[in-house]
Amino acid sequence: MTQATPQSQATPPMAAVRVEIRERIATVTIDRPDVLNALNRAVVLDLDRTFSQLGEDPAVGGIIVTGAGPRAFVAGADIEELKGLSGTSGYEASRLGQGVLGRLDRLPKPSVAAVNGYALGGGCELALACTLRVAAGGGGLGLPETALGIIPGYGGTQRLARLVGAGKALELILTGEPVDAQEALRIGLVNRVVPAPELLGAATALLRVILSRGPLAVQATLEVVRAGLAGSLEAGLELEARAFGLLCSSEDMHEGMRAFLAKRKPAFSGR
Ligand code: COA
Repeated sequence: MTQATPQSQATPPMAAVRVEIRERIATVTIDRPDVLNALNRAVVLDLDRTFSQLGEDPAVGGIIVTGAGPRAFVAGADIEELKGLSGTSGYEASRLGQGVLGRLDRLPKPSVAAVNGYALGGGCELALACTLRVAAGGGGLGLPETALGIIPGYGGTQRLARLVGAGKALELILTGEPVDAQEALRIGLVNRVVPAPELLGAATALLRVILSRGPLAVQATLEVVRAGLAGSLEAGLELEARAFGLLCSSEDMHEGMRAFLAKRKPAFSGR
């Protein structure tokens, strides 16, 4: 089944974000190929609405984020707009972008960035806010903001360092030089690299595996890993033990173990 994002009469149609929902997976496509899918304010606001709706939609189990056209995932925030920012509006633009990508990052549903070419600046930051990243060759991934006299402002200084370590993150941000998909794989910036024609299929297959696992366990993993990264090891271990205990009282845990012992696939109910 294919379905466009429902639009209520009060909400305007989205400028350049397309959403397709098929078999519990929503594919969100940023659609400004003429400017390599650069994120202007309208797109950022559309993404906010999209992530919010998909988060609440019980028909959606997971999300793929990608860019339109063959060349780019997203080549960054729209430099035409950035050039007019002041101190105050720059702070607000950064907080807005952080908020939108934070919403995606905090969803209790897994997301995969299908990186189909350049993922630079805000595009790389968008990919970093997804749970996992699959890339096709072509283009590069990186945070080139220092070449423009600014720094990453949509969470890149924080998420990149948490993902690949401070040393690599500092190198990428300070030099502004992108890495290709293979190097991104080597340093842990992406999880898998596949040929371009297989990209969406590979991202979908990855999400399908995750969606076949115990839904409460998937949700708990997202919550505990995310919260643990933001706090101390001790606090994270306590969160882990609490989630573990909760899952031990779930129907899914009994079903998962019964199915293993009976050598059949589990039928999880999410309870
Ligand atoms: N914002 C606004 N427009 C952008 C853009 C961005 N971030 N990235 C690309 N574009 C536009 C270009 O201005 C160009 O528009 P035009 O056809 O009207 O001239 C079009 O997209 C194609 O890009 P172009 O630069 O001609 O392609 P290229 O193959 O020579 O280079 C890149 C591709 C990605 C290396 C180059 O576009 C680039 O460096 N983009 C900016 C990346 C960046 O600094 N992002 C961080 C922003 S904070």
